Amino acid sequence: MKILVTGGSGYIGSHTCVELLNSGYEVVVMDNLCNSSEESLNRVKQITGKDLAFYKADITDRDAFKKIFSEHKIDAVIHFAGLKAVGESCEKPIEYYFNNVAGTVIMCDEMRKAGVKNIVFSSSATVYGKPKTVPIKEDFPLSTTNPYGATKLMIENILTDIHTADKEWNVILLRYFNPIGAHESGLIGEDPNGIPNNLLPYVSKVAIGQLPFVNVWGNDYETKDGTGVRDYIHVVDLAVGHIRAVEKLKENPGRKVYNLGTGNGYSVLEIIENFSKACGKDVPYKIAPRRPGDIDVCYADASLAKEELGWEAKFGIDKMCEDLWRWQSKNPNGYK
Ligand code: NAD
Ligand code: UFG
Repeated sequence: MKILVTGGSGYIGSHTCVELLNSGYEVVVMDNLCNSSEESLNRVKQITGKDLAFYKADITDRDAFKKIFSEHKIDAVIHFAGLKAVGESCEKPIEYYFNNVAGTVIMCDEMRKAGVKNIVFSSSATVYGKPKTVPIKEDFPLSTTNPYGATKLMIENILTDIHTADKEWNVILLRYFNPIGAHESGLIGEDPNGIPNNLLPYVSKVAIGQLPFVNVWGNDYETKDGTGVRDYIHVVDLAVGHIRAVEKLKENPGRKVYNLGTGNGYSVLEIIENFSKACGKDVPYKIAPRRPGDIDVCYADASLAKEELGWEAKFGIDKMCEDLWRWQSKNPNGYK
């Protein structure tokens, strides 16, 4: 089977390419490199000893899809390409709606023309808004609080409508919780531009001495130690979830939605403690005011993915921190 991976040189995409190649799939990557480097794909080839096809192209470019679909017989698309910074999406809503939503509609139109009607989409736990209870199940009410989250929910709805109108389409929506960590080779990992927004990339930059301390955004939440609790999942577990989803597509499942998380919640202070252990030094932090829009607690009920995909996260928080530290210390400046 040949899989088109949009956004395949990015963080989750590159790890998924490794798992696809290792599972015997052929891989075609399409990425405009707006938030990644082609070097990640060289590393994917190095890890797997296998080749892949790469197109530097934008998902809003119809001709790029025409070229790819004419040069390859694609069986399914895994759609990672998108902009993902919550804060930036509030400042640049037009860019986010154009890139993520318009880009996806253009892609689906070109997929339809080429007769490619199987898609796995990167959604997010952000579509649950502020959940009333945890663990979060797939049938919980959906809402969003920022343009980034709105693009995820809109795309979920668009793909659902496409399936409703044409039952030949198989649509799997994967709602990720908080992906962290890196491939255990230390060759690929997350390489954010500028100062990271997310906790783990920030903590690892403090540990390596590029930032002075971690701001802990609030210690007055309704949680075990007052700091925010999240469901951190190893990026390799997440990548394997995509392989299971592609396998599921072979059964013509229609439209499905799955949480990909571990079901465990860790607080910010627990993460700092675990990371300090992994890197063998104290990571300094300061308690700071809450970050607007953050919620207290978010973790998954991932039992549906276990039941229907036969998928379950394997790696614990220790390995997530150790693998992230290996990537960070071997590549202090990312792919540069
Ligand atoms: P990433 O930025 O590393 O990867 C996204 C890739 O898409 C990048 O390589 C970027 O260059 C590419 N891209 C963006 N716009 C494009 C366009 N118009 N045309 C072609 N390529 C384009 O991000 P990631 O963390 O790997 O996330 C992958 C997907 O998963 C995204 O859709 C993201 O919203 C979603 N997601 C991520 C997280 C997370 O915490 N990392 C959580 C939930 C969902
Ligand atoms: N945090 C800090 N200091 C920091 C960064 C984060 O204390 O410097 C705290 C946050 O307040 C939160 C926790 O660490 O309690 C996790 O924050 P992240 O920014 O790493 O992750 P979020 O849960 O806020 O959001 C992430 C992605 C979203 C996605 C969501 C669910 O950024 O796009 O996970 O998948 F929707």
